[in-house]
Amino acid sequence: MKSIASHNGKVASDQAFQTMVAGGSPLDGVVAGVTLVEDDPNELTVGYGGLPNEDGVVQLDAAVMDGASHRGGAVAALEGVRHPTPVARLVMEQTRRVMLAGEGARRFALANGFAEENLLTEKARRMWHYWRRRRSGIDDWRDPPADDDLDAHKYFQQEFYKTGGTIHCSAIDSTGNIACATSTSGHSFKLCGRVGDSPIIGAGLYVDNDVGSCGGIGHGEAAMRHVASFAVVELMRQGRSPLEAGLEVLQRINDKALPEERDEQGRAKFELQLFILASDGQHAGVAMRGPKEIAVSDAGGTNLELCTPLWEE
Ligand code: GLY
Repeated sequence: MKSIASHNGKVASDQAFQTMVAGGSPLDGVVAGVTLVEDDPNELTVGYGGLPNEDGVVQLDAAVMDGASHRGGAVAALEGVRHPTPVARLVMEQTRRVMLAGEGARRFALANGFAEENLLTEKARRMWHYWRRRRSGIDDWRDPPADDDLDAHKYFQQEFYKTGGTIHCSAIDSTGNIACATSTSGHSFKLCGRVGDSPIIGAGLYVDNDVGSCGGIGHGEAAMRHVASFAVVELMRQGRSPLEAGLEVLQRINDKALPEERDEQGRAKFELQLFILASDGQHAGVAMRGPKEIAVSDAGGTNLELCTPLWEE
């Protein structure tokens, strides 16, 4: 029995493991774990307190996938409901569909008794307003005084390692069933309606009980263009270890990065991290560049381990 999560999901991985110890399924575990992070107002990239889109509206994406049934559920651009992951689970369990988006997702959540609330915390609102005033020198807004605490770009440069972006959690029980979940508020100040990789089965997460699971955080467009999580699982099916499969997919993504996504050395500038759990219980975390961490929970407790970077810097 084991669970893993992105570094900002230590509490999620621990909760997933404890849920399985108490008799819950891996799906119960990952949903319970990710829900805790969705509640955290200090996590600026997930759930309540997530940074909004360019209009100042928080739009959440999430998906779950259950290896036992090989079914998935997802919601995209969900507004006003802080827990997209349990809503995604209900899409999987109650409907014949895989994904609901926007107003349909919101109505589905409310019909299931989820509370509607304002997800924009005061901190997130101030960061958004600061961004809006500084985004251009040719609009009607005067620049505000420099304030590193409100500058989301600087904030993420300085704090990304601690605050992270998006949560992924996977879990395997003692019978070999695997489930996973990914949840996000998406890129900060994104275009209204932009949907990232997190709710896309195959891109932001994928599981096949016969092989293992993978989920990612980081630049969603790159993960979507390469169907990153599916690609990792398929490489493992062909015999790669979790580490080999993860690094091969990151290399592939790096090699096909768009011109505007490359630094002076031609490497991808964006970050993408993949968290992999094989059906034999092996795990790996890989990142474009280090240091990044993966949370791992097993009978020895919950610990953070270093991911393997594609680029040593
Ligand atoms: N990986 C999260 C996003 O791009 O929205």
